[in-house]
Amino acid sequence: MTNFRTFILRLAAAFGLPWLCLIVLPAIHYQQLTPVAYDKDKDGLDGYFPQAPINGQGQLVYISEGCNQCHTQMIRPIQLGLDGWYKGWGQDQEARPATPARPNVLRDYLGERYALLGIQRIGPDLANFGWRAPSATALYQHLYSPRSVHDWSTMPAYTGLFKLQKIQGPISEGAVKLPKKFAPPAGYEVVPTQEAKQLVEYLLSLKKDYPVPGQGAAVAASPAKK
Ligand code: HEC
Repeated sequence: MTNFRTFILRLAAAFGLPWLCLIVLPAIHYQQLTPVAYDKDKDGLDGYFPQAPINGQGQLVYISEGCNQCHTQMIRPIQLGLDGWYKGWGQDQEARPATPARPNVLRDYLGERYALLGIQRIGPDLANFGWRAPSATALYQHLYSPRSVHDWSTMPAYTGLFKLQKIQGPISEGAVKLPKKFAPPAGYEVVPTQEAKQLVEYLLSLKKDYPVPGQGAAVAASPAKK
């Protein structure tokens, strides 16, 4: 009988402790958050949070196509001394922002209709994709045929976001440029649909790097790691 009681108690502890630490305590903590204002001296800004700019139709296309099954939009904070992020991370492409990217904070998702943090990183994190994005034309090519950009890509081809149509007269202005191997048959062209245009507009707008109160200054001061 005693054994049975110990067993039940340990079982309760095994499930109860993680529940307490991962659900109850964070919930209590986050429910009591109050907005923090910018400090004009430290952050160079006054007032409260900037609005999340990305609530357009494109976000709905991103959701309905399931992009968030493979892509996150969340740069991990540094926890328990373990690096989740370091200065310069994700910025090794040419169009780098003047201010360094930083780990994401709750405020980054404030005002977003859906916070697409994602669940796993099969593809790269897209939190700051807008900064390193190639042109819209190159993005169309990537969405239509990822393998035409990287022959090792495991990203699905979203051909459903494009229309294959017969060329009538001159080639349409927005026709996707494709290498020969991936090009449509002669006399045909691939053009983006309205959804593809909205999705690309959304992807280009992904920039979660504006300063947050206090953090912007602290991040700028921390030494860069390579
Ligand atoms: C099955 C997983 C998967 C899904 C679903 C997926 N992707 Fe990807 N994605 C990848 C992988 C893997 C890469 C890296 C290889 C490459 O560049 O093609 C990638 C790369 C990308 C890149 C380039 C990122 C960079 O940093 O250069 C963009 C942009 C992108 N995906 C957007 C999308 C969008 C938009 C959707 C939904 C329409 C989507 N992905 C759906 C796996 C996926």
